[in-house]
Amino acid sequence: MTTLTTAPVAPLINNLFEKAAAATSPAMAELSRDERARLMRSKTEYLDFYGRLKDLWLPVSPETGVLLYMLARASRARTIVEFGTSFGISTLHLAAALRDNGGGRLITTEFEPSKLARARESLTAGGLIDLVEIREGDALKTLSGDLPETIDLVLLDGAKALYRDILELVEDRLGPGALIVADNANFCPDYLVRVRSRAAGYLSVPFGDDVELSMRIA
Ligand SMILES: C[S@@+](CC[C@H](N)C(=O)[O-])C[C@H]1O[C@@H](n2cnc3c(N)ncnc32)[C@H](O)[C@@H]1O
Repeated sequence: MTTLTTAPVAPLINNLFEKAAAATSPAMAELSRDERARLMRSKTEYLDFYGRLKDLWLPVSPETGVLLYMLARASRARTIVEFGTSFGISTLHLAAALRDNGGGRLITTEFEPSKLARARESLTAGGLIDLVEIREGDALKTLSGDLPETIDLVLLDGAKALYRDILELVEDRLGPGALIVADNANFCPDYLVRVRSRAAGYLSVPFGDDVELSMRIA
């Protein structure tokens, strides 16, 4: 039995994925595919872009959610940093793993307050809020200090163009074996260049449809 696969977390996550799938946003419908792709690569317009999409959940896929739980369990993670909380679906998976690992600390960050209110509600309903430290604001600031001595696992799932900048904020806390999961990292080529460089101290592979899975080797 695991926290992820039993009540209250399992039915809660199912319910949240259903709500996420049903959510719509006129702002998203108004954007052409090209414009959306451009905004997802922008380092200057991400606050406006995600602010316009604040009604959308944009969660990791259910498969990626399970992968996050498995990686955090298999690596016996105790310290996790998440960039991009949204409504907290990935956070629930990661916090469930911490619970089953015997406890730990999950720092998650999001700039949209209405999303964080909903994430907090879900984490409370799942009985996992005690493991989670929510930092409200732009991750470039909220993750710029007060980090654990070592970080076992990082999830990058906020503005794609910032992945390399966020990696640089946490990099000196990643020991050999630390894992980094980056969702839709194809929107951030300079991030991929970094983690696919053994000389920079990483092993990295594209995994499934939308994840880049990387490990610190030095
Ligand atoms: C793809 S969603 C995250 C989904 C979430 N990980 C899940 O699986 O449920 C990306 C979120 O990152 C937030 N975000 C984007 N850039 C950010 C930044 N620089 N700082 C904090 N949050 C950011 C957006 O507001 C959005 O809610």
